[in-house]
Amino acid sequence: MSGHEFQSFFPESGGVDLTDQATNITDETIEEMRQLAARYPQARSALLPMLHLVQSVDGRVSPRGIEACAEVLGISAAQVSGVATFYTMYKRRPAGKHHVGVCVTALCAVMGGDALMEHVEDKLGIHPGETTADGTFSLEAVECNAACDFAPVMMVNWEFMDNMDPEKADRLLDDLAAGKPVESTRGATITSWKEAERVIAGFPDGRADEGPAAGGASLVGLRIANERGWTAPDVPAPVSEEEK
Ligand code: FES
Repeated sequence: MSGHEFQSFFPESGGVDLTDQATNITDETIEEMRQLAARYPQARSALLPMLHLVQSVDGRVSPRGIEACAEVLGISAAQVSGVATFYTMYKRRPAGKHHVGVCVTALCAVMGGDALMEHVEDKLGIHPGETTADGTFSLEAVECNAACDFAPVMMVNWEFMDNMDPEKADRLLDDLAAGKPVESTRGATITSWKEAERVIAGFPDGRADEGPAAGGASLVGLRIANERGWTAPDVPAPVSEEEK
C-alpha cells in the first residue's frame, strides 16, 4: 500500500495508525470478505460488515484490512479509510480483549454513569479511547444505548450490563481479568471483543438466543396491558390514491 494515500495534515485527528502494519488477515479472511460482498445487490454495501470482520481478525482497522476491503470491492483504499474513520465503532488503535463502554449520556449520567466512568477510569488506569498496557481492556464513553430504563448501563463487547454501580463494575472487571465466565445481564455469555466483532460482521456464533434478551423494566408496559386486557387499536386500512 502506498502510504501517501493516507497522509494526513491533521495527524492528531485520529486516523488509521499506518505505523502499525501488523496483520493476521489471511486468504481465508479475504474469502470471507467475498462471501459478505456476495450477500448484497451492490457489493460495496458490504463494506461495514467487512470492516467488522477486519476488526475480528486484527483487533482494529489495520492498514492491510483497509487494503483488502478495497481490493475485494474494487474501490480505493482512501474510500475505505474514509468510511472506517467516520464511525466510532471502528477502532484505529488496538482495542482490548474486552471493550468496555460506560454510558455517559444524560439519563445514565445523572443515575450514576459519570461517577461510574470515573471509577472505571481509576480502576483500569486508562481514559476513554485508551487500552490497558496488557491489552485486556479498552474503554469508551458511549452515548445512549437505548437502555435508559436500566440506567446506568455499561457494555462489554457490546453486551449489556444493566443497573451498574461501582461495586458491580469492580466485580465485572475483576472476573473478566481473571478469565472467569461472565454473562451479560440480558444477553449472551461474554466472549471477547474480537469474537463479538465476527458476529457483527455476519458470522453468528450461535449465542444470539442466550439470556432473557428483553429485561423486566422493558416489559412492564406489556405486562400491565396483558393484565388489563388492553390491545392495540386496529390499524386503519390504507387510503388509496383514488380515495384521497
Ligand atoms: S442514557 Fe444511557 S442508555 Fe440511554
